[in-house]
Amino acid sequence: MKKGVRMTLPGLRVGEKLARYCIIQGGMSIRISLHRLAAAVAESGGIGTIGGMGLSPDELKSEIRQARLLTKGIVGVNLMYAGLYFTDLLDVCIKERTDFVAIGAGYARDPFRILSRAGIPGFCIISSVKAARIVARTEGITGVIVESGQAGGHLGPKNADISTWELFPQVQLDLYEQGFTGPVIAAGGLLDHQDVRRALKMGASGVQLGSRFALTEESEASDEMKSAWVAATGSQIVDWSPTGLVGRVIIPHSSDRLPQLGEPGIHCVDCLKVCSHRDQGKAHCIWNSLNNAQQGNVREGLVFCGGRVGEINDVVPVNEVFRRLVNPVAVEI
Ligand SMILES: Cc1cc2nc3c(=O)[nH]c(=O)nc-3n(C[C@H](O)[C@H](O)[C@H](O)COP(=O)(O)O)c2cc1C
Repeated sequence: MKKGVRMTLPGLRVGEKLARYCIIQGGMSIRISLHRLAAAVAESGGIGTIGGMGLSPDELKSEIRQARLLTKGIVGVNLMYAGLYFTDLLDVCIKERTDFVAIGAGYARDPFRILSRAGIPGFCIISSVKAARIVARTEGITGVIVESGQAGGHLGPKNADISTWELFPQVQLDLYEQGFTGPVIAAGGLLDHQDVRRALKMGASGVQLGSRFALTEESEASDEMKSAWVAATGSQIVDWSPTGLVGRVIIPHSSDRLPQLGEPGIHCVDCLKVCSHRDQGKAHCIWNSLNNAQQGNVREGLVFCGGRVGEINDVVPVNEVFRRLVNPVAVEI
């Protein structure tokens, strides 16, 4: 075999802007990916995403504006359709002319039509062939992010263990068969240069990473949450969420107890349109649980993570993540 050097990665167009690298930092709520992380990603040549869920409209406006002061690169917003304030947050994105909006955790046609009329690219996050059939025929969806069971946070696939390598080709084929021509992005369990290369070879237009960016200096997770991620030996699926979706959390998950609605100091912030826990008025509160972890109270918090968190052993600056992801490496060819 000869020694050779692999070419660096291709870019990715989002609306009128072109990112140097086809790497998206996935939106991470509650308050994990805010302006500092998203702008650092954009400055490194990638595409940054502010996690909008759990922010008030004024907070989101401020995050978008602060990101814009730090970078001319591409910064968008991730919104959960299941969020009670979804429409208000979408309005902010449109008024502030964010570079794109990625919508997951539920689906409706209207938001994409509204975005399209406003000239703002809309990405839809999906996890099944069934969703691909609907999405391919929706006006205003400029790109699709296919999130496998190896992703972090709430998970869409029926089989929560399905890998990106199994799910992505099925979903992409269906999108193309339905005539979809926009970028299709692979997400879930991708960590390094080889993963990115493999995803591109599989036909992905780009990749979206969450956990690797959560473990950076610019991520707004507390030091305690970052330490818990670094110490994690793996991940497990739990069905603790009142959204009806399963989620992926670290092993070991040290939480003794999650905050219960109705306890002193635990206030429902009405984060979800439909919350089985709020409606029963007795189970743990997802917003308070996620907020506790982000603030440093990991023992009473929910620590979401991607399926390969056990392989991430350091907290580094975003530009170091990019150095590792994009640098051409000497390989046997
Ligand atoms: C802590 C955490 C919070 C997340 N929050 C959201 C969210 O609010 N909305 C969303 O669409 N995806 C969310 N995700 C998923 C990421 O955006 C990303 O698609 C996914 O983590 C990719 O898998 P990886 O972590 O293995 O790279 C979250 C992931 C993590 C780890």
